[in-house]
Amino acid sequence: MTTGTADHAGRLARCRALLEERGLEAVLVTDRYDVRYLSGFRGEDATLIVAPETALIVTDSRFYAQVHEEVAQYELVEHRGTDLLEDTVKAAAERLGGSFTLGYQAGAMTHAEYRGLRRAHRGRLRDVRRHVTRLRMVKEPVEAEAIAAAAALVDLALGVVVGEGLVGRTETEVAWRLVEEYHARGAEGESFEAIVAAGDHGAQGHAIPGERRIRAGELVVIDTGARFDGYCSDITRTFAAGRASKAHRRIYDIVYEAQEAGVAAVRHGAHGRDDVDAAARAVITAAGHGEEFGHGTGHGVGLEVHEAPFLGSLRGDRLEAGMVCTVEPGIYLEGEVGVRIEDTVLVTMDGCERLTRYPRELQVTD
Ligand code: GLY
Ligand code: MN
Ligand code: MN
Repeated sequence: MTTGTADHAGRLARCRALLEERGLEAVLVTDRYDVRYLSGFRGEDATLIVAPETALIVTDSRFYAQVHEEVAQYELVEHRGTDLLEDTVKAAAERLGGSFTLGYQAGAMTHAEYRGLRRAHRGRLRDVRRHVTRLRMVKEPVEAEAIAAAAALVDLALGVVVGEGLVGRTETEVAWRLVEEYHARGAEGESFEAIVAAGDHGAQGHAIPGERRIRAGELVVIDTGARFDGYCSDITRTFAAGRASKAHRRIYDIVYEAQEAGVAAVRHGAHGRDDVDAAARAVITAAGHGEEFGHGTGHGVGLEVHEAPFLGSLRGDRLEAGMVCTVEPGIYLEGEVGVRIEDTVLVTMDGCERLTRYPRELQVTD
């Protein structure tokens, strides 16, 4: 269990400050992770309206009791019509007058929902998805603790499952054993569908585990995470099943060094693209594999496994103490092999703390 409490009043105050910054009279929140972050509500099919003097949560009768249990700062509006957004806008208009500037989250609704919103709302609409979601970037202590707990669970599960041996098992069997361990150890489940990819399959960055049996002499990429109290962890380790060839060790050592360089670059004030991605990528490029590292170096981790901040060569954010992100360089040799090493880390003033702590040295398994 985590010890602190979530500061929902502080989160609401920051959302209200956003209204002022963006020239809005209210904001409509439809992204379910933002709904949870701002209000504490863990269910689905709910919207929030935040205005300077108003905070509403709108949902249907399946969730009234849950709202009463979980939500303190928001007035419950009972949605009894056929259209949640229409009822939400109506409730907002009753309190704020008909024609006001409303922020909304373009990426968190369908086009049909947007058209309904456009019809229902008489005032201006402004997309503020990015700004609302980014309220979650710097974690409160209670959030960092939940991510650390999710990271400790993935470390444990990986130890147990890999300890049972990899040679002769199918990728799917290994993936399912991880999920079993998460549940057995108190996680809510996995934070995303685990990737277990052996041999040339590992050259696909996000391979789907299959029925192929892991053979001695193959490298196996295992990318997985647990979810605890709503929060995710994310780790990748690459294992040598049975034995490791010199060529595999060579690739592994480059990725290892790149990951160390990336992690060493993480600190308050560092830039995700110019510092962290650049540091990791420089190692891989210098070794002649720049073309075979096609993805970004990392991403934020929180209620979602992929969220801001981003740390890539195309897009990066400036890091702040309290953010949680991954560092995950890789090399993928198509038709041959893949290696990735990933940790979830907590950004601090002078560096970072690894939250996933499974050993990083190449492990040769049974
Ligand atoms: N699990 C996907 C990733 O590492 O980003
Ligand atoms: Mn991952
Ligand atoms: Mn990741």
